[in-house]
Amino acid sequence: MEKTTMDQDILKILYTEEQIAQRIREMGAQMYEDLKGKNPLFVSVLRGAFIFMADITRACQVKCDVEFIAVSSYGNSTASSGAVQITHDIQQDISGRDLVVVEDILDSGNTLNFLKQYFLTKGAASVSICTLLDKPSRREKAIHADYVGFEVPDEFVVGYGLDYAQKYRNLPYIGVLKPEVYSSKG
Ligand code: PRP
Repeated sequence: MEKTTMDQDILKILYTEEQIAQRIREMGAQMYEDLKGKNPLFVSVLRGAFIFMADITRACQVKCDVEFIAVSSYGNSTASSGAVQITHDIQQDISGRDLVVVEDILDSGNTLNFLKQYFLTKGAASVSICTLLDKPSRREKAIHADYVGFEVPDEFVVGYGLDYAQKYRNLPYIGVLKPEVYSSKG
C-alpha cells in the first residue's frame, strides 16, 4: 500500500497490526480464565483506549458490561503535567463491582494511580488494570498493571489510539513519531 501522509511522519514501526492482534488474543484468553466466574465491568479511559477497548473486550469473551471515563492530563504536550481531571464520569453505581480499567499506555502512572483510588473510593470490590503498553522507565507512582501487552522504551509512540496533538490515533500499527514532527510545533 502507498505511504499515507500519516505514515510519512513515522520514524519506525514498533508493533504491526498483526503483532497487536496476536498479543491481544493472548491477553484476552488469559483474562477470560481470571474473570469467567465474575461479572466484571470494563472501564475504558478515553480517548486513547477506545480502539484497544473494542479489541480486548472481544478477545475476552466473558459476560461483562462496559463503561467509559474521560480524563485529561497531557493537553497537547508530550509530557504529563501530573494533574488528572475527570471530564466525563462513568454512568452507573460501581459499588461491589470488579472493575477492569482498560488503558492504551501506562506511563508516569499518574492517571491510573488516580483512577484506581477513585474507583475504590466509589466502592468497587476490586480494580484490575489492563494496558496495551507499559513504559516502566517513566514511572512516578508505584502502580503496576495486571495485564500488559507490550513493554515499550521511552520513545514517543503513536497509533492504535495513541495520539500526538490528537492526531495519528487511527494508525492501525504502533510507531515512533519522527522527532521533527513534534519539535517543529513546540
Ligand atoms: C494518555 C494515556 C493515558 C495516560 C498515561 O492519555 O491515554 O491515559 O496518558 O499517562 P500517565 O501514566 O503518565 O498518566 P492523554 O492524557 O494523552 O489523553 P488521551 O487518552 O486522550 O490521549
